[in-house]
Amino acid sequence: MTENSHQDRVLIFDTTLRDGEQSPGATMTHDEKLEIAAMLDEMGVDIIEAGFPIASEGDFEAVRDIAKNSRNAVICGLARAQFPDIDRAWEAVQHAARPRIHTFIGTSPLHRDITKLTQDEMVERIEATVAHARNLCDNVQWSPMDATRTEHDYLCRVVETAIKAGATTINIPDTVGYTAPRESAKLIEMLLERVPGADQIVFATHCHNDLGMATANALAAVEAGARQIECTINGLGERAGNTALEEVVMALKVRNDIMPFQTGIDTTRIMGLSRKVATVSGFPVQFNKAIVGKNAFAHESGIHQDGVLKNAETFEIMRPADIGLNATNLVMGKHSGRAALRSKMKELGFDLGDNQLKDVFVRFKALADRKKEVYDDDLLALMRDSDLDA
Ligand code: KIV
Ligand code: ZN
Repeated sequence: MTENSHQDRVLIFDTTLRDGEQSPGATMTHDEKLEIAAMLDEMGVDIIEAGFPIASEGDFEAVRDIAKNSRNAVICGLARAQFPDIDRAWEAVQHAARPRIHTFIGTSPLHRDITKLTQDEMVERIEATVAHARNLCDNVQWSPMDATRTEHDYLCRVVETAIKAGATTINIPDTVGYTAPRESAKLIEMLLERVPGADQIVFATHCHNDLGMATANALAAVEAGARQIECTINGLGERAGNTALEEVVMALKVRNDIMPFQTGIDTTRIMGLSRKVATVSGFPVQFNKAIVGKNAFAHESGIHQDGVLKNAETFEIMRPADIGLNATNLVMGKHSGRAALRSKMKELGFDLGDNQLKDVFVRFKALADRKKEVYDDDLLALMRDSDLDA
């Protein structure tokens, strides 16, 4: 029994290989997808959405091969609310030890306009397609796309229909990143309260980051009763991306005191996956990105460096090792102080006495005024120069 074994478990559904790959320009090869899926499985992701099998032959083959190689994770394939899509998704995921079909339809007025279905016609379509998926697979997820812009009464009606037709997970997508945390929470509360059978299924939250609120919206939904978070590594995804896996997982770990939920993620694998996805997708991670950005554990200012050297908790709420990083990065620049310089020099093999430190520090500050960052090689050159002067 772990200390927190009484806490509710939140399932982590990773869609890097489906929604993430939908970012323009982020296409991945078959082998790259297999490698990422294996890493996600090892990391403890509960469900891997491996692709959209009807979208292309390549997508089908990737989902099928990921399903064949899967170990622990549920492998999920996406399908529109159409029989051929659902059949193709099943053909691909049936090889998994634990397969899932995920089918969806846009339910907001904007989407009903596009599909030219009346409310009643759409309900009939949902009933038929979810029942069809359930005949093939006993694990069926259903999503009302653009749920956060769907009328509440109609949303309740379609969710009830999908549950009655056999859906085991109901995902509530904020497709265009339109909602805000309080509203995200209220929507889940409303569905749990009003929809018959809602207590028998798992509610999922699927947020996009158009207003920069994807992580906050996902966490608010969990606090309101959702028990599956849909997310991607590095927040990769269409437009401004999806909820970032590393952000929600670390938020639940670091602030477990106020959000008492458990995930099954081995967080020490976060950095490895972040680097892998950045390389493969060709989408670099922004320097100041939460958790995995180059600067997330870097300190340049003297006060921060001094504090971190004395007690890391002064300016770090997580340990670098928690996400698989070796150490805090003390960046040497014009804001750095003597304590950081002494420590950096020690790392480079120089145990400086007070007088020598004083001398090198003056030279270092002069250099730092001219350069954005002072690298180890610059410091070694400074030491060579000070030896020549001696
Ligand atoms: O954002 C969205 O609505 C989606 C659905 C297909 C679940 O990605
Ligand atoms: Zn999405």
